[in-house]
This record gives sequence, structure tokens and C-alpha cells, in this order.
Amino acid sequence: MIKIALIVGSTRPQRFADVPARWIAQGAAARPDLRMETLDLRDYALPFYQEPASPLASNGVYTHPAAETWRSKIGEFDGYIATVAEYNHGPTAVMKNALDSAFYEWNRKPIAFVGYGGAGGVRAIEQLRGVAIELQMAPVKAEVNIAMEPFVGMLTQGKTPDDYEHLVKARETMFDQLVWWGNALKAARERLAQAA
Ligand SMILES: Cc1cc2nc3c(=O)[nH]c(=O)nc-3n(C[C@H](O)[C@H](O)[C@H](O)COP(=O)(O)O)c2cc1C
Repeated sequence: MIKIALIVGSTRPQRFADVPARWIAQGAAARPDLRMETLDLRDYALPFYQEPASPLASNGVYTHPAAETWRSKIGEFDGYIATVAEYNHGPTAVMKNALDSAFYEWNRKPIAFVGYGGAGGVRAIEQLRGVAIELQMAPVKAEVNIAMEPFVGMLTQGKTPDDYEHLVKARETMFDQLVWWGNALKAARERLAQAA
């Protein structure tokens, strides 16, 4: 059983993010192979990065208490799923800042993405994949993309993600890959810790 954090990656009051976040949490609750906790960036009040040095230069220790709380929480998990809003073809500033606000805690763990928007959040997700690799994470191939038709259907026609079979299938494939990588990397981290 691996522990997964679902990071809600946008914070504006009228955000859509709650729709995919609830649906991912429902899907996770039905799986015997993972346990999920939702981390809402609204609850962490992270400052925009204001440390005196890079995380590498400061051994991954942050001076700001909110960043310390965040990175300590991030350290509890074996993998992550992020809801990804696309703002001007990139990720939200709060999501990037959340990634910058921990360092070693992300290393050697998988991350999966659930994007939405006109093109399913793909452009923002592609940028996040590069950031994740720099943090020594394993971004899994499978992702969920809630693109124009279902996105508009949910926004204006009372539809839910469960009304779209391709989304339900994509969610399960994403969970499958995240669990595979999560277990493989957890075992590898444990071997490393034993050898130290
Ligand atoms: C600042 C801003 C920029 C946006 N840029 C894009 C974009 O580049 N591509 C896109 O598909 N949607 C874009 N949108 C529309 C968002 O996909 C849509 O508003 C979505 O609901 C945002 O996620 P949120 O509701 O969780 O904040 C943008 C929205 C905002 C607020």
C-alpha cells in the first residue's frame, strides 16, 4: 500500500479544480493498492519563494515556517497526483511555487497529472514534466486530460467526469502506472536507506 498525495494546484475562489480533485479522490478510495490524502494549496499559504539561497545550497531546509510545514508534509508520501490548470499555456504560479517549496522530499518518487482546459492542460503538464525531472521525480506517462468538450460539458451542462468513459479509463491507467512506479521506487529507496 503506497501513500499518495493529491495536490490541488489552483487556488482562485471560483476554481474548477475541485471537480477533478473530488473525482480523483473518489477513484482512489475504490483502489486497494493506494491510500490518498488531498493537499489543497489554499491550506498551506506558501509565500512565493523567498529563501536566501537555493534548496540545494541550503540542504533542502527552508527558513519560512510555511515552507517547512509544506516540505515536511510532502515528505510523508510515496507519490503524487496534481490537478493542473493551464494559465497562458503554462502551469499556475502556485503549483510551480509548491514544487519549489520542497526539494529532497520529492526525490525518487513518481508524479501524475490531471489537466483540464481547452486542450486538457497538456501544455502546462509538459512544462511540469520538465520541472519534475529536475526534482529527480518520475513523471508517469499516463495522464488525464479533460479537454474542451468534457470541460464545457461539466462547466455548463451539469455533466460529471464519470459521464466520459475515456476519462474514467484514463484515470485507472494513471493510477495503475503511479502504483507501479510508487512501489518500485519505494522499494529502491528502502534498499538505499538500509545500505547507508
Ligand atoms: C490567467 C488564466 C489564463 C488561462 N490560460 C489558458 C490557457 O492558456 N489554456 C487553456 O486551455 N485555458 C486557459 N485558461 C482557462 C482555464 O483553463 C480555466 O479558467 C480553468 O477553469 C482554470 O483552472 P481553475 O478554475 O482551477 O483556476 C486560463 C485561465 C486563466 C485564469
